[in-house]
Amino acid sequence: MISEYLAGNSVMPFFICGDAIELLKRFPAESIDMAITSPPYWGKRAHGRSAIEREEDFVRYTDTLMSAFSEVLRVLKPTGSFWLNIGDSYSSKRLMGVPWRIALKMCDEQDWLLRNSVVWNKLRGNPDNSKDKLRGTHEMLFHFVKQKKYYYDISMARKDPLKARSQDGSVISASGVNGSRYKKQIEMSPCLTKDQKRRARSELDVMLKKIENGELADFRMIIKGQQKATHSGSVKLSGRARELESKGYYFLKYHPDGAKLGDVWDITAEASRGERLGFAPFPEELCRTPILATCPPDGIVLDPFCGTGTAMSVAFEHGRKSIGIDISQDCIDSSRKRIIRLSTNA
Ligand SMILES: C[S@@+](CC[C@H](N)C(=O)[O-])C[C@H]1O[C@@H](n2cnc3c(N)ncnc32)[C@H](O)[C@@H]1O
Repeated sequence: MISEYLAGNSVMPFFICGDAIELLKRFPAESIDMAITSPPYWGKRAHGRSAIEREEDFVRYTDTLMSAFSEVLRVLKPTGSFWLNIGDSYSSKRLMGVPWRIALKMCDEQDWLLRNSVVWNKLRGNPDNSKDKLRGTHEMLFHFVKQKKYYYDISMARKDPLKARSQDGSVISASGVNGSRYKKQIEMSPCLTKDQKRRARSELDVMLKKIENGELADFRMIIKGQQKATHSGSVKLSGRARELESKGYYFLKYHPDGAKLGDVWDITAEASRGERLGFAPFPEELCRTPILATCPPDGIVLDPFCGTGTAMSVAFEHGRKSIGIDISQDCIDSSRKRIIRLSTNA
């Protein structure tokens, strides 16, 4: 069945009910493009269905997760990515540091290459009545790969660019640059020679033309003695410091497709779905960038602990095939219903 789904063309997600480790063993090696998951958190469900959920011993909990991740490593294509969302837990008043312990174990023992540690700022955290510590409002999302060269579409990991606009006949960049302030600063700079001022004016005109033509979304000009530099002051360490020293100015250009996303994501945590099932599903927004950036359009996504099928839902919405595994038949049923709703609304 798994091989048939892998070979077929349907982007309808394929759901399997059972234990992730056992089921992944049946997958062919190097058959999946991208995996994203949020496994059961440690110590959260004493009466859970699977050993991972019930595990009281932290070492055994991590060992079981490691067995699941070694299967993920095996089934991923060499160019594949694995995104792991995991929250932290307290034990006897100690914050365990679960996410980083697992991430480092994966790198040290399974040879995963960690590419990013994203802080997911959940905006609204869980209620916390304790009087001696802060409320936890973040979780980690790690991006792992198998090898140095892997599939990554960076255009999918950019914020929407701000657009230049036109005002009183002159083009103004997204952040309000129209050149006149820089022109004044060039003239008034006590640090620039006559020749440097002439070259600075002419390069500034070229930049403004690029904004007008839509080749550039925005830029900033750093002029010696006028703006605070954005680099190390050492000419030994920084190419920009050398440029400032020799030319008297430099430009910071912003990509026309928007700035690259940073590694802190503000995404409101899901409030309602999954409450009945005893865990919080991750929000669709948390999966979107990982799926679009690291699963090719004709690729296949895997979530071995799929819960309410959030990752499958996002994959389906973006035309990617996907496989979701969960030990709970309730979860599989509600994931299937979610996809049916999505496909009938499409
Ligand atoms: C944190 S939830 C995942 C939530 C999911 N990301 C979503 O958006 O709904 C973890 C899931 O792992 C499942 N699970 C626990 N042990 C499992 C196992 N051994 N194999 C497969 N699934 C398991 C649970 O039933 C639960 O649905």
